[in-house]
Amino acid sequence: MKKKNIFVGIDLGTTNSLVSYIHDGKPQIIPNERGERSTPSVVSIKNNGEILVGEMAKTQAVLNSDNTVSNVKLSMGKDVKYNIIDKEFTPVDISILILKNLKENAEKYLNTKIIDTVITVPAYFDDNQRTATQKAAELAGLNVLKLLNEPTAAALSFGFNKKEESRLLTVDLGGGTLDITLMEYKDKKFTVKGIGGSTSIGGNNFDKAIIDFVLEEFKSMHSFDISQDKIAYQQLVIHAEKAKKDLSSANETKIMIPYITIREEGPIHLNISLDLNKFNNLIKTTLGEIEACINDTFEQSGIDKDWVDSIILAGGATRVPAVETIVNSIIKNKNNKNTKKGKPENVNDSLIKRDINPDEAVCLGAGILAGIFEGSIPDMEFCDITSRELGVEDDEGKMVVIIPKGTSYPLSVTHLFTTTQENQDEVIIHVLQDGDNTGNIKDSDQKMVSLGKFHLKVAPDKKEGEPNIDVTFTINMNGILKVSAIDLDSGQAGEIIIRDKQK
Ligand SMILES: Nc1ncnc2c1ncn2[C@@H]1O[C@H](COP(=O)(O)OP(=O)(O)OP(=O)(O)O)[C@@H](O)[C@H]1O
Ligand SMILES: [Mg+2]
Repeated sequence: MKKKNIFVGIDLGTTNSLVSYIHDGKPQIIPNERGERSTPSVVSIKNNGEILVGEMAKTQAVLNSDNTVSNVKLSMGKDVKYNIIDKEFTPVDISILILKNLKENAEKYLNTKIIDTVITVPAYFDDNQRTATQKAAELAGLNVLKLLNEPTAAALSFGFNKKEESRLLTVDLGGGTLDITLMEYKDKKFTVKGIGGSTSIGGNNFDKAIIDFVLEEFKSMHSFDISQDKIAYQQLVIHAEKAKKDLSSANETKIMIPYITIREEGPIHLNISLDLNKFNNLIKTTLGEIEACINDTFEQSGIDKDWVDSIILAGGATRVPAVETIVNSIIKNKNNKNTKKGKPENVNDSLIKRDINPDEAVCLGAGILAGIFEGSIPDMEFCDITSRELGVEDDEGKMVVIIPKGTSYPLSVTHLFTTTQENQDEVIIHVLQDGDNTGNIKDSDQKMVSLGKFHLKVAPDKKEGEPNIDVTFTINMNGILKVSAIDLDSGQAGEIIIRDKQK
């Protein structure tokens, strides 16, 4: 007899996606059909309707940028449309294509059907973004056992098979998102203590800094701007990323693109050097933002930096040496009062755990949880927390907070409301969340996002303040919110599952 289906973990990344499963009691990455351990999250559609996903889509992007979508994760849950060969695609549509490709490849490799999955999302993903991810998975033919927060997944892979207790700082810097988590690991249980980050900081920002620098250099060398030349620009995108990666292990690199453009006087080649110092200077702003996000996470969760005893770096962009230096200096400045900022770091002093592969930790963690659901490895418990305030709008247009930021879930909370006018026969339950979808935590206090609303009939002929209306907020294990309300006198009830918002 053979098992009919296997549960898998999927890291649906901004730049790269990975799949894992439990084999011989351990999480293993499932290679794609090219034998590679990760698949670029890039989709392209050819004129004949053929769909390309992964490396094939990525390599032809230079000549076909209009019909190629990358970084779709950054648009999940937002009102964005892609026009590819006269057809409109939503971010969910594009993600379905990526997920189907991952599913098919894994099915071929394991020679079995794949339905049940754990999919990772940034801890800082809001309700709309989570819902869109779940919807894409379902439409790709997958059953989502849980949407797992990425840093929690990285920590699960760290804690797997370990006995000792840890107090972890996880910094996950991927292509487009920064996720920070403070977490305790004790008696095989993870408890998330604090969450922070931004959905607009990632390795892409480093690439962009290099691209801008090269465009400026090129302009001053040749008195000519190539930023509007799509093909030249696409080549530059690829070479900038490559240069960034070179500088993770070398002090200097060259960005060379022969025949980048042709002018009257003949072809022009791009040949520009970039050293590590210059690169660190170019990315100063992003580094500052990363530092601010980490500091904010400590501040907002009320946890002291001394508390941390281990650091996990996840995400390809944490390979940039300056990122590691910043993380070390934030913790060390606090832990060792004699350490001066800017002083070269002694690697041996670092709390960074080097047995974690930053590219694979998130996916392996998702695979571990899938294995727990499948029953193929022993249970590990964990408890996540909300990353935003959730509440309802009151009659003055202000948010009444029902679930504060940092609350553990799954949970259900009920508050009692009433009317503000005599003979009021209806109330509007307007569900709000703090912050905007793209900014970092600092901006989030300034705006409120509407998650949906519904009208509830209340018993008529009542004085103001007389009716009793119970409003209940429930967050399930995937972090998806349901709001229900009931007028206790008439028994009239209504509810909204925030995922209904996604079409
Ligand atoms: N050796 C390296 N040095 C510097 N940056 C690197 C290196 N390897 C990969 N990266 C960068 O890491 C980023 C991709 O990381 P990763 O694959 O972890 O992201 P992702 O999971 O797709 O994104 P996200 O977690 O934001 O959804 C890219 O910006 C890539 O250029
Ligand atoms: Mg990632």
